[in-house]
Amino acid sequence: MSSNIAFFIFAVLFFRMMRDLISKLEADNILAREEFLNLIDNHTPDDAEYLFERARAVRESHFGKAVYLRGLVEITSYCSNDCLYCGIRRSNRGAERYRLSPEEILQCCEEGHKLGFRTFVMQGGEDPYFSDDVLVPLIDEIKSRYPDCAVTLSLGERSRKSYQRLYNAGADRYLLRHETAATAHYSQLHPQWMSYERRMECLMNLKEIGFQVGTGFMVGSPYQTSENLLEDLLFIARFQPQMVGIGPFVPHHATPFASEKGGTAELTTFMLGLLRLMLPGVLLPSTTALGTIDPEGREKGLLAGANVVMPNLSPVDVRKKYDIYDNKLFSGEESAQYVRNLADRIASTGYHVEFVRGDAPGWAKR
Ligand code: 5AD
Repeated sequence: MSSNIAFFIFAVLFFRMMRDLISKLEADNILAREEFLNLIDNHTPDDAEYLFERARAVRESHFGKAVYLRGLVEITSYCSNDCLYCGIRRSNRGAERYRLSPEEILQCCEEGHKLGFRTFVMQGGEDPYFSDDVLVPLIDEIKSRYPDCAVTLSLGERSRKSYQRLYNAGADRYLLRHETAATAHYSQLHPQWMSYERRMECLMNLKEIGFQVGTGFMVGSPYQTSENLLEDLLFIARFQPQMVGIGPFVPHHATPFASEKGGTAELTTFMLGLLRLMLPGVLLPSTTALGTIDPEGREKGLLAGANVVMPNLSPVDVRKKYDIYDNKLFSGEESAQYVRNLADRIASTGYHVEFVRGDAPGWAKR
């Protein structure tokens, strides 16, 4: 009997302590290492609910109920890189490769603009075809046709000079996930010629040049520990990006990680909630990977503090070739063409789609 009482008192105190940590994170936007670790490792479903409640309150104080949309154009599945987790890594001889011509990309933007999109994200593998000489006139053309739109690039590691040229051409934002902020873990996920230092250098360059910068990581990637996730949070707190993209790791059958376990929606949404409290005004997508592993993933992400959704605007016939992980969604609400259905599903969360550029707070239109 007395041990039951002791357990009850312990449980009540523990419950209180987790909530106190969440309130402290909301007030200070940061926690000590042990506090973050404690939250990551020991939270209960009730703690997660409380976190999400606070994350929604914070997101609503900055963005109201608005969800921003980005039209995602996957411009190339060629990649000279060889990240061990990724289905379009160059060692995957079975991957179907395609690249869009500048004209095809412009058609995607035209269609997207008609559908109401005001941000175009050009994402692709590290494909030498997309040199500055190809990208600069393309960005320039998109910006002059659609001066009311933002252009986001997600094209991997490039030289500072190249980033500068792309910025000068009118690109507004750049996404480059750091993938993991623990150097040893970084080496376990990447080929030996890639380095964490180089990744950091790229991110610093992007920031100094003046891009709105996005970084991020996978949740549940092979070998990942809670300490690794802690390092990710601490790096993001230092770096103060305008955008953070996170999603669960999802194994791809033709990679060295084919039989590894995938990340969970539970931990991914928990990390989303923590990120919202750390960076109250951050642009935080509820990612396709989260929607892929859980039929309600997209909605769960929005209810955990995310405020951005990125439907696919690529030509329909290439979509399945941008095959970075197994079962990646590309139809239904993931498809830009079904943006009205997506808007309806989002409305079921109490949030609503806004057809605006959706810059980070405090960022003037260029
Ligand atoms: N599972 C989940 N996310 C992945 N990415 C690449 N491969 C996978 C995978 N197997 C993510 C990486 C990359 C982004 C484009 O997609 O984080 O930065």
